[in-house]
Amino acid sequence: PSGQQTETPATSAAYDSAFLKACRREPVPHTPVWFMRQAGRSLPEYLKVREGIPMLESCMQPELVTEITLQPVRRHKVDAAIYFSDIVVPLKAIGIDLDIKPGVGPVVAEPIRRREDLDRLRALTPDDVAYVTEAIGMLTGELGATPLIGFAGAPFTLASYLVEGGPSRNHEHTKALMYGDPQLWADLLDRLADITAAFLKVQIEAGASAVQLFDSWVGALAPSDYRRSVMPASAKVFRAVEGYGVPRIHFGVGTGELLGLMGEAGADVVGVDWRVPLDEAARRVGPGKALQGNLDPAVLFSTPEAVEAKTREVLDAAAGLEGHVFNLGHGVLPTTDPDALTRLVEYVHTRTAR
Ligand code: CP3
Repeated sequence: PSGQQTETPATSAAYDSAFLKACRREPVPHTPVWFMRQAGRSLPEYLKVREGIPMLESCMQPELVTEITLQPVRRHKVDAAIYFSDIVVPLKAIGIDLDIKPGVGPVVAEPIRRREDLDRLRALTPDDVAYVTEAIGMLTGELGATPLIGFAGAPFTLASYLVEGGPSRNHEHTKALMYGDPQLWADLLDRLADITAAFLKVQIEAGASAVQLFDSWVGALAPSDYRRSVMPASAKVFRAVEGYGVPRIHFGVGTGELLGLMGEAGADVVGVDWRVPLDEAARRVGPGKALQGNLDPAVLFSTPEAVEAKTREVLDAAAGLEGHVFNLGHGVLPTTDPDALTRLVEYVHTRTAR
């Protein structure tokens, strides 16, 4: 199931960018940098344009999405933009009653726990997210040679919000379903895989030049459970977009024991949090894949000297990698000083200039 594009990845303006080269494990002029959650509350210009507009509504306004996506590129000179949206947007788009509560996260009105609840997870069509196609068309025009990363939530992490009904520390309802009714669980994840794949395809066809699958909370699982109960659905998502030839990034938090399997699921680039040094992560992932990461986002609250010292540690551990995309080990924390992020981009670029 490969996609047809009028513009192939190889003819896009961003093809020779440092970010896409690093994803392809080709030589780069400098280590590329972007930050998960680079758009958002750390930026005063973001708070200004979002004033009075609820999060999910802002995701449906192409002009606003374009402006917010461009803000961190202008300010920090990062090597890639990430499409401004949220992992629950495709679920909202197919009619799931949910909201994003400030300071809490996604909250689902009626959790999905029984077989009849699956009927609410209908297929996603491009028409359901026409605003995404429109916004990405505007964005790629503005971005020129700067690549745009599309993204989606992975089936497990989406299932966790749907089954729990909101954010969860222990994922107890999710695990109860996974262990207690493996067939219902498999059917649920399979439907989410189809929705996720359809959402990523929309973004790639509109012009995204890489995609990241966020399985933020999958680190809650042991490797055997991941392999049996989650990997088939995530692998289905990666297979569905393989034919486009755009790099596929796979990220989760606390996934030290899962890194090998997350690569095996079909990623070209494996995202690593700050708990595993990148040289050790490379051993766990094995050859043929680039790595992304992995400065602890909390380090940015320290002194500039400490940030530089910790950044050198990351770069030194990455020195022998086939491809390295510099990033934080998780998203930018909302109260981060934006100037610390700008300095960090500059520091990585200068220090790795070849
Ligand atoms: O710049 C970027 O990285 C793109 C924007 C982005 C958002 N959400 C915007 C957002 C991305 C990539 C996401 C993905 C996302 N959303 C994930 C995976 C990434 C991760 O952090 O692990 C997850 C788990 C979610 C679910 C979610 N949405 C949470 C936990 C929250 C935070 C709730 C809060 O207020 O603390 C959201 C809301 C959200 N998504 C905000 C933003 C900018 C904050 C809402 C606001 O600014 O009003």
